[in-house]
Amino acid sequence: MPERSSKVKRRDFLKIFGIFLLLSFIGSMVLSLFRKCKREIVERERMKVADIDLLKRQKFVKAVVKGEPIIIIYEREEILALSLTCPHRGCVVSTDNVDKGFLECPCHGSKFDLKGKRLEGPSPEDLRKLEIEIEKKDVYVLL
Ligand code: FES
Repeated sequence: MPERSSKVKRRDFLKIFGIFLLLSFIGSMVLSLFRKCKREIVERERMKVADIDLLKRQKFVKAVVKGEPIIIIYEREEILALSLTCPHRGCVVSTDNVDKGFLECPCHGSKFDLKGKRLEGPSPEDLRKLEIEIEKKDVYVLL
């Protein structure tokens, strides 16, 4: 009888130990995933490109991020950052017609709406959108 009892205890111990190992493994996996995500968030660089009050007054602001000309547009309570490098052959897209609701490439005439969508011309695609973050009254482009 005591032998049977000790077998049961041993089996219970092994079950508990197995569950403990499994939970430890899952916990360490979740923790390492969390640390990796946190590191990526912290390591992402950003650059201040506009002040919201100025953006609201002017409707748009131009900036250069890592040598690339961009435009930050405020329209209908939405803020959007677009590359001004034309996807066709790399000319700098003009902002002269923002008041008329479009951007136009001076080289071969591609036109884009203020959300960067290609309207006409030889450009094979839309203008590239940049990720932004808004903190207090500042607009940042994520690099
Ligand atoms: S480079 Fe812009 S349309 Fe050709």
